[in-house]
Amino acid sequence: MRAVRLERQGPPEELKLLDLPDPAPAAGEALVRLHACGLNRRDVWIRQGLYARIQLPCVLGSDGAGVVEQAPDRKWIGKRAVIIPCYGWGPDPKVQSRDFFILGMPRQGTMAEKIAVPQSMLCEIPAHLSFAEAAALPVAGLTAYRALVTRGELRKDEHVLVTGIGGGVATLTLLFAKALGARVSVNSGSAEKLAKARSMGAIAAVSYKEKNWEKELVAQAGGPPSLIIDGAGGDGLNNLLAASSGAARIVVYGATRLSPSKLDMPKIFFKQVDIRGTTMGTDDEFRAMLQLVERARIQPVIDRVFPLSQAVEANRLLEESAQMGKIILDCTK
Ligand SMILES: NC(=O)c1ccc[n+]([C@@H]2O[C@H](COP(=O)([O-])OP(=O)(O)OC[C@H]3O[C@@H](n4cnc5c(N)ncnc54)[C@H](OP(=O)(O)O)[C@@H]3O)[C@@H](O)[C@H]2O)c1
Repeated sequence: MRAVRLERQGPPEELKLLDLPDPAPAAGEALVRLHACGLNRRDVWIRQGLYARIQLPCVLGSDGAGVVEQAPDRKWIGKRAVIIPCYGWGPDPKVQSRDFFILGMPRQGTMAEKIAVPQSMLCEIPAHLSFAEAAALPVAGLTAYRALVTRGELRKDEHVLVTGIGGGVATLTLLFAKALGARVSVNSGSAEKLAKARSMGAIAAVSYKEKNWEKELVAQAGGPPSLIIDGAGGDGLNNLLAASSGAARIVVYGATRLSPSKLDMPKIFFKQVDIRGTTMGTDDEFRAMLQLVERARIQPVIDRVFPLSQAVEANRLLEESAQMGKIILDCTK
């Protein structure tokens, strides 16, 4: 099969399109012919050496959708499936076990024509979604769902701020929050992405490049957010504390801007703010996310689809944060 393997740390050119042996499913595993693979910032972190326990070379890619070719339960054969991107959450829904892993390092990932995964990681693709749209969901959708629903405890009509709206997780968070009846405001570094977010129903949209942007956001929205979903971190966390209402929840799923160099501690305690961490989610949350997508007929935002053979160009686009929503590889081309 053709697959894109990261040979060593370095620029996107270290991703090489190779002919590799087809994966052989172990007991209990299914073989999926992949049609689409979604890219994630995780792929960039691994390539840059900014991820834990890196083992290379490895076929990266955590998001995959395709057709099941072999499975222990024959009812799966020929079905369109999207793959749960992680395995081994463990018995406590509050936190993952030490055996938790994400597809695409160290285990073979989805930047390939075929993948073998435990049959328990297969879910049927909602009928209204293409393979590319299904492959936009796994990591970002699961992360967005747990951040909003489980950790964020989103309430109907609540004002939720979603930061860095161009991001894959952020665009799905906006769509999920709207489907769940929330009022959504956003920030971004790009005027184009702010305009797109407004067209998707954002009630306020401001540039995080402006000083004290949070004042403008609260003015546009007519009040402060009581829930904030953030994947950027960095010193911007202080702006989020300034933006938030009293007793707000700030749910943090990433740190694209790394850790803050300073933290406005008085704002945390005077405002009685909860800062909550979250990561990916359980299999049950993945299935609940898919049900929400199906019920509300949500269509993920896809920026561009590249052929598998152009994985280098696709990864460069992601690294530059030039995209709005997800970047997808077509594994059949
Ligand atoms: N914990 C988990 O399970 C989990 C899962 C998925 C992702 N993550 C992490 O979450 C982060 C986002 O992931 P992703 O896949 O959605 O990434 P992505 O698609 O590459 O998007 C990153 C986004 O960060 C935004 N950003 C950059 N500087 C910002 C700032 N100063 N303030 C606010 N936003 C800023 C940009 O938004 P604009 O383009 O709108 O400016 C950019 O689009 C990454 O750090 C990733 O590692 C964690």
